[in-house]
Amino acid sequence: EANRPLDGRHVIVTSGPTHEPIDPVRYIANRSSGKQGHALAAALARLGARVTLVSGPVTEPDPTGVQTIHVETARDMAQAVEDALPASVAVCAAAVADWRVDGEAGQKIKKDGSGAVPTLSLVENPDILASLSRRNQGRPALVIGFAAETEKVVDHARAKLARKGCDWIVANDVGSGPDGGVMGSTDNTVHIVTGEGIESWPKLSKIEVAARLAARIALTVKERNI
Ligand code: PMT
Repeated sequence: EANRPLDGRHVIVTSGPTHEPIDPVRYIANRSSGKQGHALAAALARLGARVTLVSGPVTEPDPTGVQTIHVETARDMAQAVEDALPASVAVCAAAVADWRVDGEAGQKIKKDGSGAVPTLSLVENPDILASLSRRNQGRPALVIGFAAETEKVVDHARAKLARKGCDWIVANDVGSGPDGGVMGSTDNTVHIVTGEGIESWPKLSKIEVAARLAARIALTVKERNI
């Protein structure tokens, strides 16, 4: 059907930050609000896709018409994505913590009054986008990542496309410049980086970015017969 071009396709979207516990009351996180990923999940559902949204802790409401799975850590998110497969398309918009604390404390770490400070030692989290892109079996036909950069946005995004093995990277500036401040805000300025080249879009609302991205995905699904 013309206005539901993604009918019958399963799409997985990740969104929001992850929280990586330090002890039972403290965690490491980032400023992602989930606005961009949630808007994308809603836009894809409007085009007929069956959408599984795997979301870190956010205050955004669950989008209507989307199955939303709530997770806290990067490891939980990786497992939920794995459990949601197979899918025709996967879009990783979540700001997944690159590192977690090695050996979360079982009890609240106490300040003992001596002035001694705890040392946090970090270990790398699983990379959800890279694992999806490099699957031998059951790789979604179209795997899309985001790149949150604070400098050399397009150069770093190009490098990320190659390193992670995904098909497209949606690059955005999370720094403090005029096109930055994307985390938590309502607008976004994105560059679509693919093997064919780079397409830079003007500053748009995240809802508009989502609608355009969903339409571009639908076109590719049609052209490539995904
Ligand atoms: O949530 P908002 O406030 O609306 O802000 C939107 C956003 C800025 C968070 C979003 O547009 C965005 O850029 N998301 C990706 C954020 C990010 O962590 O980028 P990265 O450059 O660190 O990671 C690159 C890609 O790898 C991303 O697709 C990320 O989801 C993925 N990744 C990263 C690490 C990891 N362990 N697993 C991953 O899947």
